[in-house]
Amino acid sequence: MEFSRSLEMFSQARQLIPGGSQTNSKRPQNFAYGVYPIYIERGLGCRVTDVDGNTFIDLVGALGPINLGYGYPRVNRAIEEQLGRGIVSGLLFPAELEAARLITEVVPCAEMVRFFKGGGEATAAAARIARKYTGRELILNCGYRGWPDVWTAARNDGGVPTALESSIRTFPFNDIEALERLFAEHKDQVAAVFLDILHIEPKPGYLEAVIDLAHANGALFVMDEIVSGFRLATGGAQEYFGVVPDMACFAKGIANGMPLSAVVGKAEVMREAENLLISITYGGEALSLAAAIATMSELREKKVTDYLWEIGRTLMNGLDNAAKKHGVPFECYGLPPMSLMRFRDVDAQGNQLVWGYFLQEMAARGVLMRRGGVNFVSYSHRPQDIAEVIAAADEVFANLAPLWGTPQLAEHVHILEFQTSFRSFA
Ligand SMILES: Cc1ncc(COP(=O)(O)O)c(C=O)c1O
Repeated sequence: MEFSRSLEMFSQARQLIPGGSQTNSKRPQNFAYGVYPIYIERGLGCRVTDVDGNTFIDLVGALGPINLGYGYPRVNRAIEEQLGRGIVSGLLFPAELEAARLITEVVPCAEMVRFFKGGGEATAAAARIARKYTGRELILNCGYRGWPDVWTAARNDGGVPTALESSIRTFPFNDIEALERLFAEHKDQVAAVFLDILHIEPKPGYLEAVIDLAHANGALFVMDEIVSGFRLATGGAQEYFGVVPDMACFAKGIANGMPLSAVVGKAEVMREAENLLISITYGGEALSLAAAIATMSELREKKVTDYLWEIGRTLMNGLDNAAKKHGVPFECYGLPPMSLMRFRDVDAQGNQLVWGYFLQEMAARGVLMRRGGVNFVSYSHRPQDIAEVIAAADEVFANLAPLWGTPQLAEHVHILEFQTSFRSFA
């Protein structure tokens, strides 16, 4: 397999675009730079074809949005029909109302809706609404919420006013005592608790305890459903785990890849947005809204999220069994529609090499995965596609087993440059 066009294009991109791409996680160093595609020509169903003419089964899934599949006919048709009527206007397109109504029908906490473009924009808006509603400033957060200052203040790597650092505290998932301590330390100061469900399932009663704790302290509970929304269940993690947050943020799965995000929540809370400067030119952009209407309708009618659980489970079991068969200490874990992967018994440098080898060899067999997952299965991944992925993994684990823990492994890894955060091992 050859990647010369991709490599040439990326070397040009590095001169034109800081970091070479708009999304840090899409930088080629995060995959297997040199032995993995970089630019894609097109995506269709569960497959992507790169600019060098190679085709792959894709489990990277654009980092989450592609819950139906690339080029999904019903969504494409909706976009084309709307395109014939217009993209944006100085007035409002009916799609805005219809998309908002559909969300309130499927998402448990959604009584009112505001649309945005990116996930980080939506979470920043939710933080502002929560602060205004409660008249408090402190936010307690667990997980990644996006790049805006309100979130990066918690781990300021430059460019964020230090004055903001005291406006946010972070807490670990599934540890209710840690959250209790924060509330005790900051009595009557907390506006909202934000969390998302990505890596592991909440312990029984954990989410309910977080909500009770927040409410007992006069704070709001906000769920970031940017990954879990329209994936764990049509109504998101809140539907799947049976909890009703005060507000929630959605993005990735809402429009099958079109740029749309939303803040939803209880009407009493959401009405704060009426008198705040929360306003964007593109919030009523109608192609994305038309795509969202088609996506949400398809998710409901075809019971898509049930299928994501089923096919996701098949993938997890298949990968685990293949690794076990060859004695490779690997596991696929987490929630089947968005599973994660890890190698055990390996130090940081070994981990870097093992992942390099795994991604390189899976790509050589026509499968794109991401270091550690998330494995974003879609409605277009049919059982035979997953069987192909598992067959590829079986071969890769068979070849990896004799190299495991030996100096020879490095000789089999042909990556040009490793992930930035592991640069010292490159
Ligand atoms: C849970 C979660 N929240 C928020 C975001 C930020 O979304 P965006 O990259 O669209 O700004 C992400 C992005 O990956 C995410 O995974």
